[in-house]
Amino acid sequence: FSRSFSQLCSQSQRPSFGIAFDIDGVVLRDHTPIGGSPLALRRLYDDSGALKIPYVFLTNGGGFRESKRALELSELLGVKILPSQVLQGHSPFRQLVNRYENEFIVAVGKGEPAAVMFEYGFKNVMSIDEYASCFDDIDPLAKYKKWTTKLVTNQSSSFEQIAPRKSVYSQRVQAAFIVSDSVDWSRDIQVLCDILRTGGLPEREIGHQPPLYFAHDDLKYQATFPSERLGMGAFRIALESIFNRIHPNALEYTSFGKPNPFVFKNAETLLKQLASSLDHELPLVNHAIDESHFKTLYMIGDNPSVDIKGAQQAGHPWFSILTRTGVFKGKENDADFPADLVVDTVEEAVDYILRKEC
Ligand code: G3P
Ligand code: MG
Repeated sequence: FSRSFSQLCSQSQRPSFGIAFDIDGVVLRDHTPIGGSPLALRRLYDDSGALKIPYVFLTNGGGFRESKRALELSELLGVKILPSQVLQGHSPFRQLVNRYENEFIVAVGKGEPAAVMFEYGFKNVMSIDEYASCFDDIDPLAKYKKWTTKLVTNQSSSFEQIAPRKSVYSQRVQAAFIVSDSVDWSRDIQVLCDILRTGGLPEREIGHQPPLYFAHDDLKYQATFPSERLGMGAFRIALESIFNRIHPNALEYTSFGKPNPFVFKNAETLLKQLASSLDHELPLVNHAIDESHFKTLYMIGDNPSVDIKGAQQAGHPWFSILTRTGVFKGKENDADFPADLVVDTVEEAVDYILRKEC
């Protein structure tokens, strides 16, 4: 059942397929590997530990730099994962750097949202934790949230306060980026409403709403708790409902992440790059093979309306595999977004792929 790549495939063949793994609900639940994921991934390497099958992680989650996330995943899953194999919900924010490189922007969410944006090239970014700490009494409930105050103090790093603190009193916030799940909905909704109404400057007149970007729009996702938890899409609904009651114009925003087809296009491009880097080890004759197209790209996901819908919309060469370890827990296929294949676990999915392809 668990034979490795080299036992199944001929070493001299360049794989004409690639794999995109969703993380939450497929490979991990919070920080715990699930569905036999370490064994499944191990099968994509040869006996010396060299990567043989091009694969990436295609997650809507995030909050940490791709380099840091790759290290963490390598430790949890027991294989060497490169930063270029980690595509997070916020990874496309990189494309907006020309527009906001030196503009004052605020980054929201768990982890190190400002460090993420700084690594992408945004030079004048501040996390919402740091931003809120610049204003006394901005959150009237803060005194009841001793745990939050402590957490913020521990987490504060030079990375989270890249923009100088004086910016908050003199500069309008030019854009807000929801990088990862909000830790404190009540404070973040309050502070974001301030920023979106006036650019954040207290007692200023309501002005044009600064652009607002979400890393994704997942209503729910699978964490450690047995039933699904509310995700960034639920936070967006809460913020939008409130903002629309206190502002004359409806909230304008852009959501990235799956199921947007450009995410899958981007994954395909990265998988191609990865495939050609693997080719260097192969005999020269194989370079003559047309390496510009994959016959099949597999998306292994747990959320029908995100992972499976996304792969379906992306079309050829995507083939969708739905696992039962996360959001989807049904017996048959999903009624709204049926996958090409339904399996119990990611280990079963990889077994299917290797048997079919090798
Ligand atoms: O917050 C992360 C969650 O919404 C989805 O993560 O890995 O299932 O795309 P993933
Ligand atoms: Mg998932």
